[in-house]
Amino acid sequence: MKNRDDKQPAFSEMIESCLNRRSFLLGASAIGAGAFLSLNPVATALARSSSDSLMQFSAVPVSTADSVVVPKGYTATQLISWGDPIFSDAPRFNPKGSDSASVQARQFGDNNDGMSLFPISADRAVLAINNEYTNYEYLFPHQGSEMTKDDVLKAQSAVGVSVVEIVKRNGSWEVDKAGARNRRITANTQMVFSGPAAGHSLLKTNDDRQGMHPVGTFANCANGKTPWGTYLTCEENFDGYFGTDQDLTLTDDDKRYGVEAEPSSTQWEKHDQRFDIAKNRNEVNRFGWVVEIDPHDPNSTPVKRTALGRFKHENAALVVNKDGHVVVYLGDDERGEHLYKFVSKNKFQPGNDTENRKLLEEGTLYVAEFNADDQELSGKGKWIELTYGKNGLTKGNGFSDQGEVLIFARRAATQVGATTMDRPEWVAVHPDKTQVFCTLTNNKNRGVEEDQPVGGPNPRAKNQYGQILRWQPKNSDHTLDEFDWDLYLIAGNPSVHPDSLYAGSQNITADNMFNSPDGIGFDDAGRLWIQTDGNYSNKGDFSGQGNNQMLCGDPNTGEVRRFLTGPIACEITGLAFSEDQRTMFIGVQHPGEKGAPSHFPGGGNSKPRSTIMMITRDDGGIIGT
Ligand code: FEO
Ligand code: CA
Ligand code: CA
Ligand code: CA
Repeated sequence: MKNRDDKQPAFSEMIESCLNRRSFLLGASAIGAGAFLSLNPVATALARSSSDSLMQFSAVPVSTADSVVVPKGYTATQLISWGDPIFSDAPRFNPKGSDSASVQARQFGDNNDGMSLFPISADRAVLAINNEYTNYEYLFPHQGSEMTKDDVLKAQSAVGVSVVEIVKRNGSWEVDKAGARNRRITANTQMVFSGPAAGHSLLKTNDDRQGMHPVGTFANCANGKTPWGTYLTCEENFDGYFGTDQDLTLTDDDKRYGVEAEPSSTQWEKHDQRFDIAKNRNEVNRFGWVVEIDPHDPNSTPVKRTALGRFKHENAALVVNKDGHVVVYLGDDERGEHLYKFVSKNKFQPGNDTENRKLLEEGTLYVAEFNADDQELSGKGKWIELTYGKNGLTKGNGFSDQGEVLIFARRAATQVGATTMDRPEWVAVHPDKTQVFCTLTNNKNRGVEEDQPVGGPNPRAKNQYGQILRWQPKNSDHTLDEFDWDLYLIAGNPSVHPDSLYAGSQNITADNMFNSPDGIGFDDAGRLWIQTDGNYSNKGDFSGQGNNQMLCGDPNTGEVRRFLTGPIACEITGLAFSEDQRTMFIGVQHPGEKGAPSHFPGGGNSKPRSTIMMITRDDGGIIGT
């Protein structure tokens, strides 16, 4: 049965309303929807699309409850939580937090984030799941106030990636602790560099004079999946793990990546000199990469792919272009940073995974520049090549070679005039490969910092709500430099700000509003799933928005419907589907953050724990239909 809300306006009307709101805000006249449509191929294509909603579930209301709420006819169950054993001989979770590093290294890591599912058979699969960081207030009885050497090692063992086999028994998925692929990858796992920066002098350390053998991964935010069966984990806020108590003059590059010459909050440098920025000047350059992992081989060595650039990587959205080149879209999640694209030198060869596994070694990195006329929320854009010797990336401008361009990709992006963005988080490519979406989560510095002017895809000063950008590569060819863009959605609060662009676009109402879109991903039918990492105070600008949540968007109609709400003080992040699309896996990250009163998922007086949840339909149907 179709239950599309007939009151939902057409996409063109939404754009028009959006423009009217913008003109109200800026005191300028708006252009009409007709003009917009004629200018905007993305909207034109959508206007021709089906008007039937893809979504056949009842929206859930906003929530402040300490639970996961899903639509009527759906059930959410727990798959695995921080501290659960992932090997047959691993100890059970000890809520006291007094277990050692060696125990944590055999258990599911903390703060699950991006994840991918790799099918093995109809009733067996492997899940690779990022463990972004850890919560000292729950990890240790002393909450981080008296860090010992083993405590640092325990924190290093709680982050990275967890690889777990799951098996379907009696109709539902569960972790198989005996799974041959089960593995923990931590801040101390041996890795290798590949690509143009591998072996660069800026990557050499006393422990690795070749600059080829980095150790560990952490700050693993979101993810990607390749068609040759590997997992991509993306290193984001790595700077917070480096510090020193010595006097040190930092370089501008250090500062651009957030490194500070003071003791770090994670305190790793106290007991592990690798993280003392004064003693190991280059160690920090060995983080901020996309790491490729073979989830099917627990003995494989993860590979840091330098060709994809070094920044605070959010996720890696990979698409095989129609000519076979592999294109990876990459966001750099920091206020005023950039959006990137990698195009492989060689082409995907179906069935030849030995060769395909080399595709991310060599290619070209680009960064996005967005253009818009003054009053438009759409326009054209281009990808600017970040190749040494081109576009001013020369010795005269401070770059010695391609390795340095990649290691300091942020500086290279500024050099070529890339657009500063409102914190690019996840990118998702529509399954028909014509459109690409990116969450711009929020940016309090927009219109405040001189290099972050209001305009184009970043249309609001002190943007507290975020927006979802969409672009359409010219000729649906992801290797080309040109694209058209618009905003699929502008989050906002129409109850608090009814008459300005802070109300959000017309597809945002008092019933579906939220802030800070972050995780996004498509299912096979082209539903856009939107996860939030926002302000959950439910007050002021955010009143009526409740806990963090997941919504579903129909890219054809623009309709957005809330599908799930999370427990207290969590973020909803991480999305994967079983191959039959009948189980959805989502992540609940840090319920009870900073001591907020959550006891999810155990209830009672239990310690809150980051958890992977499985969403199924009671009638066994496909999620969302
Ligand atoms: Fe780890 Fe940008 O989120
Ligand atoms: Ca995120
Ligand atoms: Ca976020
Ligand atoms: Ca988070």
